[in-house]
Amino acid sequence: MKVITILGSPRKKGKTAQTLDLLEDNLIAQGHEVERIHLTDHQIKGCLGCHSCMKKNDVPGCVLKDDAVPIFEKIILADVIVYASPIYCFDFTSQFKTFLDRHWCLTQNFGTPYASSNIVSKRVALLITCMGMAEQNADLAQEIFERSMRGVLGCNIIGKYVVPLSEAPDFKDRAKEIADKLLEDIMIED
Ligand SMILES: Cc1cc2nc3c(=O)[nH]c(=O)nc-3n(C[C@H](O)[C@H](O)[C@H](O)COP(=O)(O)O)c2cc1C
Repeated sequence: MKVITILGSPRKKGKTAQTLDLLEDNLIAQGHEVERIHLTDHQIKGCLGCHSCMKKNDVPGCVLKDDAVPIFEKIILADVIVYASPIYCFDFTSQFKTFLDRHWCLTQNFGTPYASSNIVSKRVALLITCMGMAEQNADLAQEIFERSMRGVLGCNIIGKYVVPLSEAPDFKDRAKEIADKLLEDIMIED
């Protein structure tokens, strides 16, 4: 299996990265191919809203020449994508949200009966860390992910996973539990 993880935290070794480490180590130990994409290592501009991409059906036809389209080309070829972000002000980080907006170039004819997506049925998961509780805190980001990835892009959501209280002393243990659960769910074939 080829798994891509997308790290939306600006911190390379932060809590979200640490949780992804646990998942990736187990995936690699089981013989799977893993590639982590740390969004802050890449130039990803904000969507221009020009809708030029809607005219191209078979490829991510974005007019912006930056790192987003090469990442989408990898996503199209991968079996599983794990999107990971901390909560910033009840939402994703700005790096993650900018990248999520750019997924627009993977849709065609959105809002019409002919709507399609370059990543329909793609298996995706969401991993969140946050300093507070999950409730009334990480709920909006999960809803945005649900509507965007399932509703607009037609992806198959494996699950949405939250490691709350990321500064508490037992963070590592709870991160491991969540990473193990995510691994288990990834391994359940459709
Ligand atoms: C600008 C900013 C806004 C934040 N907003 C929230 C928030 O709304 N809710 C919350 O629980 N934690 C919030 N946090 C804390 C982070 O979500 C938390 O520390 C997270 O685990 C950091 O992950 P990282 O180490 O991977 O960057 C915020 C942190 C920053 C820097």
